[in-house]
Amino acid sequence: MRVLLIGPPGAGKGTQAARIAAHFDLARIATGDLLRQEVASGSELGRTAKAYMDRGDLVPDEVVIAMTRERVVKANAEGGYILDGYPRTLAQAEAAHRWAEARGVPLDLALLFEIGTDELLARLAGRAREEGRSDDAEETVRHRLEVFRSQTHPLVDYYRRRGILVRIDAVGPVDAITEQILALLHWYKFKALTAGADRPEWAIGQGDG
Ligand code: AP5
Repeated sequence: MRVLLIGPPGAGKGTQAARIAAHFDLARIATGDLLRQEVASGSELGRTAKAYMDRGDLVPDEVVIAMTRERVVKANAEGGYILDGYPRTLAQAEAAHRWAEARGVPLDLALLFEIGTDELLARLAGRAREEGRSDDAEETVRHRLEVFRSQTHPLVDYYRRRGILVRIDAVGPVDAITEQILALLHWYKFKALTAGADRPEWAIGQGDG
């Protein structure tokens, strides 16, 4: 199974990606975590990425695409993956799509985490107090939200047109959201097994608006 999570900062992508990946024994490819590891290691890639991340801007596409390519290849060979925070721009989505099409392994589903701004700000303010992540200061979070709207939100239409977008209500207890997603993915797997490679009708057009 190959699934992508899209959502604004603080929507719960990382929290849910870890649970989904563990449940289905899939690799979780989280570009934010990978970049933070590069920053912590002091690598050249990390030094390049740090300034962008601290400002709340996206790291350049070519850096992120190069960083993920081998991981996606490996995870695909091992049964699939959950992409958490990648692709995040149309250029990244096109690069991922070209790669997948060439190998006949397209994304199955893109899950859009829907949540209001007040809830996001509250969650990230909580994380700023508890963990002190460098990009969780309120001003930086507001900038990250703007970056999401301008650069990542266009992916909603991109994946809706591909017929694989499904909306997830990302507000409520963590366990309830996990249950919602697992039920969807189990249903999808069942449908895929029983209906060949056809896309489920309910996914098509679910992202309207
Ligand atoms: P990244 O680490 O991906 O940050 P993000 O997308 O802004 O996401 P967050 O980690 O803030 O939120 P999340 O949705 O994962 O929520 P989480 O589960 O953590 O990226 C960081 C930076 O790296 C980017 O700004 C960019 O610079 C760079 N980058 C990364 N990918 C890139 C790419 N593809 N291209 C270019 N640049 C890239 O939860 C948040 C908090 O809420 C936690 O405290 C959690 O415990 C809590 N929480 C979770 N679920 C719930 C719930 N249901 N109820 C209450 N609290 C909850």
